[in-house]
Amino acid sequence: MWLNYYLRNMNLVERDLKVIWHPYTQMQTAMPPIPIVRGEGVLLFDEAGKSYIDAVSSWWVNIHGHSHPYIAEKVAAQLKVLEHVIFAGFTHPTAVELAERLLQIIPGNQAKVFYSDNGSTAVEVAIKMCLQYWSNKGSRRSKMIAFKNAYHGDTFGAMAVSGRSAFTAPFDNLLFDVEFIDLPNAENIESLKSQISNLKSDLACFIFEPLIQGSSGMLMYKAQYLNDLMAHCRSEQVFTIADEVMTGFGRTGERFACDHLQHQPDIMCFSKGLTGGTMALGITTCTQQIYDAFLSDDKLKTLFHGHSFTANPIACAAALASMHLFLQPETMANIKRIEARHQQFGEKIKSYQKVKEVRQTGTIIAIEWETGAGTSYFSTLRDKLYQYFLDAGIILRPLGNVLYILPPYCTSNEQLDYIYSKIEEALNTF
Ligand SMILES: Cc1ncc(COP(=O)(O)O)c(C=O)c1O
Repeated sequence: MWLNYYLRNMNLVERDLKVIWHPYTQMQTAMPPIPIVRGEGVLLFDEAGKSYIDAVSSWWVNIHGHSHPYIAEKVAAQLKVLEHVIFAGFTHPTAVELAERLLQIIPGNQAKVFYSDNGSTAVEVAIKMCLQYWSNKGSRRSKMIAFKNAYHGDTFGAMAVSGRSAFTAPFDNLLFDVEFIDLPNAENIESLKSQISNLKSDLACFIFEPLIQGSSGMLMYKAQYLNDLMAHCRSEQVFTIADEVMTGFGRTGERFACDHLQHQPDIMCFSKGLTGGTMALGITTCTQQIYDAFLSDDKLKTLFHGHSFTANPIACAAALASMHLFLQPETMANIKRIEARHQQFGEKIKSYQKVKEVRQTGTIIAIEWETGAGTSYFSTLRDKLYQYFLDAGIILRPLGNVLYILPPYCTSNEQLDYIYSKIEEALNTF
């Protein structure tokens, strides 16, 4: 009784601060969280009714706008039929249909779908598939290559294949060794290939974020050189894992970043936009070759991996609904519209004194701010810009001194223009 009375008289933020520990947040110094009570399209609304343009798609997950009625309808219908079932020894129509449809739209060499819970678990599964492939074949190949500054998630395997950074520092001595190589370009491509060849007898796989390294500051690199590296890996029998967790479902201007490539990966990871940002769901896909290495009369060759909520029917229903919307012609038209607008804006601002570099791929534009200091996630500029845009009713969450827009595809031209105008204002202010 007393507790109910007490809780009723506290606002949401006070209640939150009493009981919740937020992600990526220094709880001692962070500003109180903004209480969001409703979402519609590109907008999020706080308790007081203030609206915010979600220009980062809520950690890069939202592609069709918030509380999309079509996704809501499909999720509600699924809830009434089957909310969950153990996925070992059982299956259900929504998981099968989603797997069938996903395999139709990703590169044709992918043959099997393995479900998990989020981007990090999709990466964990990919790593295990590769390592156990070689183990099942009786080989000792167990080394992995990744790009410097990579980010593949926060679980231990995903952290291990991510660049060593402030995020990983407390755990570095527990992370398995990975060979980190530079992003490829015209100058270093041959030496990167030699690095791979020198290690090849130990190498299990090469994992990468195709075309864009998101968390490390939207660092972009050319498809052509990635393509070269992938071809080389294939010739050296090193598996390639494309982590499309952020780039998948339209972000790079094509359906998938791998659609910019001629060579295709052996394994792919998906999450974020997979459910349109509605539910947590991860998928790892692989080729028939990898799958076949786990088929045996010997039970020890099984992939012993699974989560309680593997292939949750509600999440699969959200993903199917999101894919339906994604495949409508107007979605790709919107992606191309945002891409063209970003290009124009990039041209317009690149001569500003404060602009060190403008990078753009598809619906993502990143502006690296000249601060006098180097590029850093801990740049003090970050908090100033973050607050500045919140005050203007825009959620932009700079990665240090790198400001980026990564909007839902339904963001209107007017909303884009408003964001651009506030960025120009900020360039003249900070
Ligand atoms: C490329 C990439 N891989 C994996 C992840 C981890 O995904 P999750 O946060 O869903 O675990 C992220 C998250 O930002 C990502 O950008």
